Amino acid sequence: MNRLIRLFGTSIGRKLVMAGTGLMLIGFVLVHMLGNMAMFQGADALNGYAAWLQGHPLIWAARAGLLGVFLVHSVTAVSLALENRRARPVAYGRKELVAATLASRYIVLSGVLVLGFVIFHLGHFTFGWFQPEHFQARDAQGRHDVFHMVVAGFQSPLFSGVYVVSMLLVGFHLHHGVKSLVQTLGINHDSYNALLSLAGKGLVGLIVIGNCSFPVLVLMGVIGASGDN
Ligand code: HEM
Repeated sequence: MNRLIRLFGTSIGRKLVMAGTGLMLIGFVLVHMLGNMAMFQGADALNGYAAWLQGHPLIWAARAGLLGVFLVHSVTAVSLALENRRARPVAYGRKELVAATLASRYIVLSGVLVLGFVIFHLGHFTFGWFQPEHFQARDAQGRHDVFHMVVAGFQSPLFSGVYVVSMLLVGFHLHHGVKSLVQTLGINHDSYNALLSLAGKGLVGLIVIGNCSFPVLVLMGVIGASGDN
């Protein structure tokens, strides 16, 4: 335990924490997107999936774990950003240093915007602060009508637009995050660097396209036209 605390006191230790928690958050975003794909099968599939999740005995443990990972990731990011700022030389002599500083600035800024999106998203679909009329809906079996909530929400071009822009931001953050975690973990070899970079881009692309497909297909009338597809 003491060793872990001492490791967290070093900058490489904190970078490892960022990499580990970042990987877990990417895992969540991927699984969340795959689960939401139940939307393609219609209202019964999505509402059944949501009811199963809500009623799962481990749901609160999973939520607490996710919140913990999210908090550790954010607090560690702030501590590393402050450390970088303190360590910054007065004048930059080298181009690479400027590029590295810009990249880390982009990742911090996009991280703050992703945090803003998550707060907005929880307010929308978990707490019903926005469009409360759609949040109240129940289906014929008395379950929370998540399908109606999501489809009605995305039928608003404004809400859909906010989600599409947010997914591009999530993609931007993940793209820089994946590059940085590969560097931290020291995964670097001429024989597989190109393949690894392609796999990282493919994963981020899949997350962005998959998540954008929900609002875009609702706006096009492909999802939700008949109410149960
Ligand atoms: C267009 C893409 C997305 C859709 C359609 C979507 C949909 C949903 C829905 C319907 C819920 C509520 C589930 C329920 O109450 O049963 C939810 C919860 C949540 N979403 Fe998303 N989501 C999207 C993208 C994201 C992204 C990119 C993130 C993270 C960066 C995210 C993080 C969360 C979190 C943390 C929850 C709360 C989970 C819980 O209640 O325990 N979502 N999402």
